[in-house]
Amino acid sequence: MLKSSKIILKKTNNEKYPFGIILGSGIKNFFEKKEIKFSISYKNLPEFPKPTIKGHSGKIVFGSVYKKKIACLYGRSHIYEGHTPNKLANPIRVLKEIGCQTLVITNAAGSLNKKMSSGSLMLISDHINWSGFNPLIGPNDDNYGTRFPDMSDAYNLDLRQKMHKASKIGKIPLYKGVYTMYSGPNFETPAEIKALRVIGGDAVGMSTVPEVIVANHCGIKTVAISLITNFAAGLSKNKLSHEETLREAQKGEKNIVKLIKIFLKVFF
Ligand code: HPA
Repeated sequence: MLKSSKIILKKTNNEKYPFGIILGSGIKNFFEKKEIKFSISYKNLPEFPKPTIKGHSGKIVFGSVYKKKIACLYGRSHIYEGHTPNKLANPIRVLKEIGCQTLVITNAAGSLNKKMSSGSLMLISDHINWSGFNPLIGPNDDNYGTRFPDMSDAYNLDLRQKMHKASKIGKIPLYKGVYTMYSGPNFETPAEIKALRVIGGDAVGMSTVPEVIVANHCGIKTVAISLITNFAAGLSKNKLSHEETLREAQKGEKNIVKLIKIFLKVFF
């Protein structure tokens, strides 16, 4: 067991947290104050890579919503920050070790589809790992999973169906599509975006894929939602910036949090 897991379980008196959530760029909050039990800074969790960029606060917040116990990662690390890809596995493995069975991942992403504008939510049906990296490269730890994990239901179908139902209940429009991961840190070129559209992408971003791979490897059921913050390069005349990502994500935060809370309330 990782040291970070032991630290957390000591604090929870071995109480398990069956739900995990990861907040993407610019999504600052999931819990209301009264829902929070306690939080731990990543600084106090030895195996956690420390986020270095704006919009990612770097703490794990433990709370309860509709009596479901949730461990929520406020902020994540990315490959472009220089972390070795397999270090990104640690937070997911810690979630597993503290009881996570269902993981909801969020991210900010660029749209490859002219109909899907800023503020839209897209349920990820599958991904294309175009990043050139994989967090499982290296010796396999059989304690977590098999050497060659299956990815044919990486975005769990049952959870996706539930999320679509939750979107109907909440009257929150929810697109679906394929997420393509690019390593960053620069935004893509218009030619790269053209290529991603040709190979079947609907959105592009610089996260999520490593987490989904690791979660599936260790048997956590996973579902993921992109919050669209811009049209990808070449699809509009605007220049892309991280400031725009944060600003637009902030506008969509309410909707994505509401959707996840309905999902938790109705189906668990
Ligand atoms: N490209 C990559 N990552 C992103 C984008 C984008 O256009 N928007 C938000 N994250």
